[in-house]
Amino acid sequence: MSLRSLLRAPFDWLDRLCARAFPPDWNPMVQLGAIGWFMFWIVAVSGVYLYIFFDTGIRGTWQSVEAITRNQWWAGGVMRSLHRYASDALVVLALLHMLREWSMDRMRGNHWFAWATGVPLLLFVYVCGITGYWLVWDLRAQYVAVQTTALLDLLPIFGEPIGRNFVDQASVSDRFFTLMAFIHIAAPLLMLLFMWIHIARHARARTNPARGLGVVMLLVLVALSLAHPALSGPPADLDRIPPTVALDWFYLPAFPLIDRWGGAAVWALSLGLLALLLLMPWLPPRRTPPAARVDLANCNGCARCFADCPFGAITMAPRSDGRPYAQEALVNADQCMACGLCTGSCPTATPMRSAPDFFAGIELPDRPLSALRLEMQQAAARLSGDARVIVIACGSGADIAGCAAEGVATIRLPCVAMLPPSFIDYVVSRGLADGVLLAGCAPGDCYHRLGDRWTEERIEGKRDPWLRERVPRERVAVSWVARADSRRRAADVAAFRARLRTLPAIARGIRHGLAPATRAIRRSWPKPLQWTAWVALFGALAFGTGALASWPAWRVLGPEQAVISLSLRHVAKTRIECKPLTPEELIKLKPNMRRQVGCPRERWPVYVELLRDGQPLYQGEHAPAGLWNDGPSTVLERIVVPQGLQTLTVRLRDSGRKAGFDYEQEIPADLAAAQNFVIEFRADRGFVYH
Ligand code: HEM
Ligand code: SF4
Ligand code: SF4
Repeated sequence: MSLRSLLRAPFDWLDRLCARAFPPDWNPMVQLGAIGWFMFWIVAVSGVYLYIFFDTGIRGTWQSVEAITRNQWWAGGVMRSLHRYASDALVVLALLHMLREWSMDRMRGNHWFAWATGVPLLLFVYVCGITGYWLVWDLRAQYVAVQTTALLDLLPIFGEPIGRNFVDQASVSDRFFTLMAFIHIAAPLLMLLFMWIHIARHARARTNPARGLGVVMLLVLVALSLAHPALSGPPADLDRIPPTVALDWFYLPAFPLIDRWGGAAVWALSLGLLALLLLMPWLPPRRTPPAARVDLANCNGCARCFADCPFGAITMAPRSDGRPYAQEALVNADQCMACGLCTGSCPTATPMRSAPDFFAGIELPDRPLSALRLEMQQAAARLSGDARVIVIACGSGADIAGCAAEGVATIRLPCVAMLPPSFIDYVVSRGLADGVLLAGCAPGDCYHRLGDRWTEERIEGKRDPWLRERVPRERVAVSWVARADSRRRAADVAAFRARLRTLPAIARGIRHGLAPATRAIRRSWPKPLQWTAWVALFGALAFGTGALASWPAWRVLGPEQAVISLSLRHVAKTRIECKPLTPEELIKLKPNMRRQVGCPRERWPVYVELLRDGQPLYQGEHAPAGLWNDGPSTVLERIVVPQGLQTLTVRLRDSGRKAGFDYEQEIPADLAAAQNFVIEFRADRGFVYH
């Protein structure tokens, strides 16, 4: 069983549940991306408000955040909580949205673009969240700073470990902190750019949820903010290690893994996951069926296909064949998803022609309309009994096996909106069947994005090409159900047939006025049940967000443990002593190179050992920095030890000697629980500690 089919089951369940519990506009599952955008805006607006009162200097940060939270809890406090909870919701939404697209396999073939631009969005979300937690400068921020720098220091990009900026209280500087504030503001701006690129290939992308749903979600977040406000922990104090940290498990789940597995494993896992995500669209690759093709002999340049294509794959170009039309349609094959919506929109796509082989202005090479007409005729010929129905089913929609009956014929198309309305007219006006049922995905959840919308509008006479007035609308039905809801699909077909039985027998060429818009045969849950479902869903969302934003706390240190931070920066001796050049050596050099002294720059590595009560705690050799190995060697190690009285011995070798040490010191230390005991080295004073 593939991973995708495993994912499919829970999403099918959720989709079915939400399609029944929510009115079509409100179904959150079909607008996860749009709700994500909404959360982004809440985060952006609340962030701007907070920034007005925020002090970016490290000394005043914590106090300024406290003042925002406590002194104006009704405004700044709520804004802060909204900022945090909407950010948490954004993580959940982005992950859900990603997994759902995966479960629907909307990432391979020509779908790859949205997927590949979605992955960086996830990264941006995390960069924003992690730097955001840093800015509060409480104990959690301290943990975030130490863990993040520990991770970054494993990359060979910094001359010196940046973690040395967070060794103790004295080493923290405004400079680094301002950089974090800058990243926290720049990352969302870049993210917005990527969000825009992400939907660049989606015509009419949905970036706003239904207004009512948006209001309810905002109210839920405000209620959560009032009931469970986001608060800071005690101010950061790098001279102590917080034994437990209230972690936000949406943003910071990787940090405990650093404690458990080490930074290298976390890098390997993250980069592996990232590479896997980026490669997903090609694992294995899937070819999108051949792109739509324009037949210029039948294209009059009306641009309806251009207006209806959900993936912006059609452009209108100046006429190239000399026919008396201004434009012609052009398909970009790399963007075309072979959904067929353009065929459904082309006014020349009509089956009312006598030629067996006819062409519309635009068609799918794999699904020619002339073959579709023949298929309909043959299917109709097989129908018997009363209430004969032709079901046009979407290729990605609910299973239609349960609809099989003597009087039911089913034809699958890539999307129901591929069917030009004239084909419905053809079936009904020629008496091929008593009715036509268009069976697609849940409202607003068309696999090809806009199929349900265009279909409804064409049938209702609101969008060209319309279903002709003469077609009695009671003989046309739509069934929009969730992808896995085959039971409901079968029920819709049965209900439609029951309705057809109440109508007079069909006759050829019936004339009718424009009947009221066609309606789906939809039975929603009773209102009280719907409301209960909403309260349960939004309540669970609020509770889950509020809880996981700071619970369960992560135990960083045992109750009787302390940390020794070995933080050294030392320039070792040069490998070769400086010595004056001899006249012979000087003569061998070019005149402009003839200096009096020869000083090779390369230095010895620094070797360091730390022992606790005679037992080795740490041993390591540290190469000098710099292209010519002539810079300082740096050491940054954090070692967890039991609290209490102990004798530490620290030794250093910087002269390339084979045995013995250049510096050695014994340190009697009585470590308190959670103490951060820092050992440093000064060339003039030797080892210093506090
Ligand atoms: C902040 C996070 C994200 C936001 C706000 C967002 C938003 C959106 C929006 C608005 C759409 C268009 C919906 C429509 O109108 O049909 C969309 C589509 C899509 N997104 Fe995202 N997205 C996010 C993250 C991701 C991630 C992480 C992935 C996957 C790695 C992803 C993959 C996709 C795919 C595959 C589609 C549609 C593909 C198709 O129809 O061809 N998105 N997203
Ligand atoms: S809808 Fe048909 S006729 Fe109109 S531009 Fe497109 S292909 Fe040409
Ligand atoms: S088949 Fe779909 S994606 Fe391709 S051009 Fe037609 S409407 Fe656009």
